[in-house]
Amino acid sequence: MSYHIVLGVTGSIAAYKAVEIVSCLKRQGNRVLVIMTSAAQRFVDPVTFRSISQNQVVTDLFVDNENYDPNHISLAEQADLMVVAPATANFIGKVASGIADDALTCTVMAAQSPVIIAPAMNDSMYLNPIVQENIKKLAHRGYKIIEPEQGRLCTGRIGIGRLPAVEKIVRVIEEELNKKRKG
Ligand SMILES: Cc1cc2nc3c(=O)[nH]c(=O)nc-3n(C[C@H](O)[C@H](O)[C@H](O)COP(=O)(O)O)c2cc1C
Repeated sequence: MSYHIVLGVTGSIAAYKAVEIVSCLKRQGNRVLVIMTSAAQRFVDPVTFRSISQNQVVTDLFVDNENYDPNHISLAEQADLMVVAPATANFIGKVASGIADDALTCTVMAAQSPVIIAPAMNDSMYLNPIVQENIKKLAHRGYKIIEPEQGRLCTGRIGIGRLPAVEKIVRVIEEELNKKRKG
């Protein structure tokens, strides 16, 4: 079965792994639309996601559409599932505080579908009590959190905060879509 999945990518060093996530979801026959924050575009060029997803990539909230179409609302309404991987501390903090100041946070705010969030950051950021509170708040509100793993971080240190393997993220996505199929 084919689903419409919106994948949000934020400005983490792990942003390149999202390319492989898109590739896996496409191989399974899904329609994937990528939304990138400005910071994410400093790590991976949108053209990579455009090529792999074979779809437009949303990089800006204020797009000039010929037909009036508030992208973030229509995207949120059309999606079967939203996934944000990797999710920065900044993104998590914004959503937990009700801030919607870019295409991704607006779309997540308007989501009608389940939303999966996969935090990825340095261990010192991840273990910050404010970040922990924000993650708990999102989980409490029904967002599905994929906990980061222990491992080698971009600073070279071993610690918690690594984005889990692509296969694990795709498995959680499949489980969520299966629930949808049965429900
Ligand atoms: C090299 C580098 C790597 C970064 N990696 C992360 C990361 O893995 N996780 C994180 O939360 N922030 C990371 N940041 C900080 C974010 O890019 C920054 O907070 C940014 O404002 C996030 O914006 P966004 O949430 O809109 O994408 C990194 C910054 C740099 C320069």
